[in-house]
Amino acid sequence: MIVVGVDGSQAGLDAVSWAVREAELRNEELRIVHVMPAWPLEMTEDAPHAEVGRWMRDGAESVLADGLERARREERHVKVESLLLPGDPRSALIAAAGDARLLVVGSHGLGGFRGMLLGSVALGVAGHTACPVAVVRCPPAQPCGEVVVGVDGSPAGAEAVGFAFAEASFRGAALRAVHAWSRPTAGGGLHASADAEETAQEARRALAEALAGWSERYPDVKVTEHLEHGHPVDVLRDASTRADLLVVGSRGRGDLAGLLLGSVSHSLLHHAACPLVVTPASATSRRA
Ligand SMILES: Nc1ncnc2c1ncn2[C@@H]1O[C@H](COP(=O)(O)OP(=O)(O)O)[C@@H](O)[C@H]1O
Ligand SMILES: [Mg+2]
Repeated sequence: MIVVGVDGSQAGLDAVSWAVREAELRNEELRIVHVMPAWPLEMTEDAPHAEVGRWMRDGAESVLADGLERARREERHVKVESLLLPGDPRSALIAAAGDARLLVVGSHGLGGFRGMLLGSVALGVAGHTACPVAVVRCPPAQPCGEVVVGVDGSPAGAEAVGFAFAEASFRGAALRAVHAWSRPTAGGGLHASADAEETAQEARRALAEALAGWSERYPDVKVTEHLEHGHPVDVLRDASTRADLLVVGSRGRGDLAGLLLGSVSHSLLHHAACPLVVTPASATSRRA
């Protein structure tokens, strides 16, 4: 099951288009979810302002109907259903994703303001679910046939590598595995370049290690390894301009304990130039 959130916005409908295609690729069912405040669903017909409640319920039903209509127009072979849930959008979507393989949201919604790079619901669900979260940013009009994965050698990064291989295989796309490394900052003079060479070697080894085993499992996926010097956010954002999908782990190696979303994933949620999938750190998450 793939779950997609809709809120009446264009970005939410674009998320449905993306999600229904993904559901077809993965042979999954699609559930379109809209979350609304609980009180209009709980009030009786003779309550004061019952007409306001009715108006809100009708509005919510039409948001779901528009979502279903968008999914139907994509003409995919997917079983689609819709579900209205009461409560706060973030917690209700996180709960709705509990038994799903993937939660899909738009990068924006109806709220927010012009120029804002990411909506609060999109930011609030990424890294908080047991399944991966897809944030559908700037979906490319024409697929370019490449999935990019950010590799850092962390456990959450391993989840990302697994997801990216499966995704590339489903799409018949190539996989670009990118590891960004930086020159050690301490020291200087002659030692600096020796250290840099050593760090690069180490980075190359870490990248190869992180990919080991996956190519045997997905022999159909053509993989290219890219080692780039620079900050991971810059390097991965740059790679996302030529990708159909960017996959990253929810947290990397440098994260503070208890932080659900690492700084790289957090920045990429705001700045990636293509749809982004953030995979959970937990080993209990279900792989494709
Ligand atoms: N009430 C909701 N019910 C279901 N999904 C929602 C709801 N609100 C937002 N979403 C999902 O989250 C995406 C981002 O919206 P959001 O983060 O709320 O942006 P904004 O802050 O611009 O409103 C939407 O495109 C939609 O996929
Ligand atoms: Mg919103």
